[in-house]
Amino acid sequence: MSDRKIVVLGGTGKTGRRVVKGLRERGAKVRAASRSGEVRFDWDDTDTWEPALAGSDTAYLVDRQDKPGEWDAEAQIRDLTKRAVDLGVRRLVVLQARVTDTVGGKSLVAGERAVRESGAEWTLLRPNWFAQNFDEGVLLDGILAGELALPAGSGREPFVDAEDVAAVAVTALLEDGHGGQVHELSGPRALGFDEAVGEIARATGRAVRYTPVSHEDYVAELVSYDVAEDYALFVADLVATIRDGRNATPTDTVQRVLGRPPRDFSEFVARAAATGVWNG
Ligand SMILES: NC(=O)c1ccc[n+]([C@@H]2O[C@H](COP(=O)([O-])OP(=O)(O)OC[C@H]3O[C@@H](n4cnc5c(N)ncnc54)[C@H](OP(=O)(O)O)[C@@H]3O)[C@@H](O)[C@H]2O)c1
Repeated sequence: MSDRKIVVLGGTGKTGRRVVKGLRERGAKVRAASRSGEVRFDWDDTDTWEPALAGSDTAYLVDRQDKPGEWDAEAQIRDLTKRAVDLGVRRLVVLQARVTDTVGGKSLVAGERAVRESGAEWTLLRPNWFAQNFDEGVLLDGILAGELALPAGSGREPFVDAEDVAAVAVTALLEDGHGGQVHELSGPRALGFDEAVGEIARATGRAVRYTPVSHEDYVAELVSYDVAEDYALFVADLVATIRDGRNATPTDTVQRVLGRPPRDFSEFVARAAATGVWNG
């Protein structure tokens, strides 16, 4: 049992709702906050910040750095962390991404300095692409359509299970020893999109294939679906980080923090297939 009082920002998202569940299982007092969460929290409405943060000594923070051009991450995270510390938050666990270079003109680790300078004890989580992008996220439509067309070439990615990211977050939120650390989180092996999609095809019995496309064709296709050009470039640049293999090496962080190996992609596929999400 824990007597910590924890607010989970992004508490309805892929990691956030698993963090909420994991914390409740360990007896912590948790408030799930987001625009549609138990507690309303909106990055764009600063009036919601204090009610969401007040009364908590610990916070899990998910930003929205996938929205380039729509917000100033550094300034907002600085404002938020300052407000949180003023209200009594003493520990922050912050979700970022393993991609630390600029993507589509934006930094996915913006706000890092603000977190480090916040005065709270902090832990940064930097995961690879989540396996759950295939069943809950941006890759689901392609899987359902039978063709995942991406500018990822033959690049490989050690997809990490959001369950493992959440389990590490829960540990860092509840236990000592993670302050001032940057945890890079990956799955146990890197897969190409052809292999990942092949596993889904075998598990579901559906014909699904991966088609590598050029960066330019991918951006043009997204724009033709009315995706804003800066967002299309952002997504294409994000996929390019898989094509060039810069984060393809698995890390041992999940094993070190949780004392067990990270979940394999095949385990994720079996679990997701059993829900029927890919049956269309
Ligand atoms: N997906 C990946 O593979 C991956 C990998 C590494 C790192 N990350 C990082 O994880 C973060 C989340 O990405 P995700 O794609 O996995 O999304 P997600 O956590 O599944 O969903 C976003 C969460 O943020 C909340 N949210 C969105 N806009 C908000 C706003 N204006 N105010 C308050 N809350 C808001 C959403 O809830 P409401 O809609 O209820 O507000 C939801 O809970 C990103 O910063 C990304 O860089 C993602």
